[in-house]
Amino acid sequence: MAWSPETYNKFKSERFAPFYDLMDLVKVKPGLHVIDLGCGTGELTRKLADKLPDSRVFGIDTSPEMLAESDAFKRTHLNFAQRSIEEQLGIPQQWDLVFSNAAVQWAENHRELIPNIVSKVRSGGQLLIQMPAQHHNISNQMLHELALEEPFRSALNGWTRTSPVLDIDEYAQLLFESRCRTMTVFEKIYPLVLQDATALFDWVSGTALLPYLERLQGELATEFTNEYQKKLRDRFPKAPVFYPFKRIILEGSL
Ligand SMILES: C[S@@+](CC[C@H](N)C(=O)[O-])C[C@H]1O[C@@H](n2cnc3c(N)ncnc32)[C@H](O)[C@@H]1O
Repeated sequence: MAWSPETYNKFKSERFAPFYDLMDLVKVKPGLHVIDLGCGTGELTRKLADKLPDSRVFGIDTSPEMLAESDAFKRTHLNFAQRSIEEQLGIPQQWDLVFSNAAVQWAENHRELIPNIVSKVRSGGQLLIQMPAQHHNISNQMLHELALEEPFRSALNGWTRTSPVLDIDEYAQLLFESRCRTMTVFEKIYPLVLQDATALFDWVSGTALLPYLERLQGELATEFTNEYQKKLRDRFPKAPVFYPFKRIILEGSL
């Protein structure tokens, strides 16, 4: 899936806000070995690394486009590699802190994924994950519904992106069963105040729209984009647009 750092970075302050909430939950100790799953451009990985004295931080991501930016954020004891979360979980290595901001919603089967991620945290270590509550977000539901309309349904062979994200009660249960001694699990609304529905489209086009455009080619991709923009304008006719973007934060300590 072709990520565009430029499009993604259009809403930096809005996208950074939940990262800061997540970073506030880190139990800062010197000399931590840290992994950032789905680190993107590495800009936020660098902020995390700079908060942790004498830490060694490693960021992984599948996107060459996003990682191409990471050179600007590299420094001693902060490195990046092109690797998927799933590949990383197959490597028998544990970390003091496993961190992931706005990435695990792209990995499937969270009932297996979350325990697998926790198994990579050393005893005495910490897990920190932030993800959008996609399954409750209107803009995602609208994409899903549009993909089921013709001509897109046939072009996509009935495929739509089904969110793997679970309710927070279930994440709490998974953390408990994965031997977390304490946890902080909550949902929070990050209010987006956007100029108009076009700006909301720009927000979605940096992330959730990507898997649809990857599968629809040429004119159909343009048609899908236009139809989605029209639906957003109908659903959010006022300017500015207020959009209550709901996110999930998971913290577990072992
Ligand atoms: C919304 S961006 C977040 C990037 C960064 N963590 C941040 O907060 O700025 C999501 C990132 O997850 C990456 N990603 C998606 N699926 C992935 C997977 N299965 N393994 C590793 N990275 C993945 C994408 O390439 C993208 O860079």
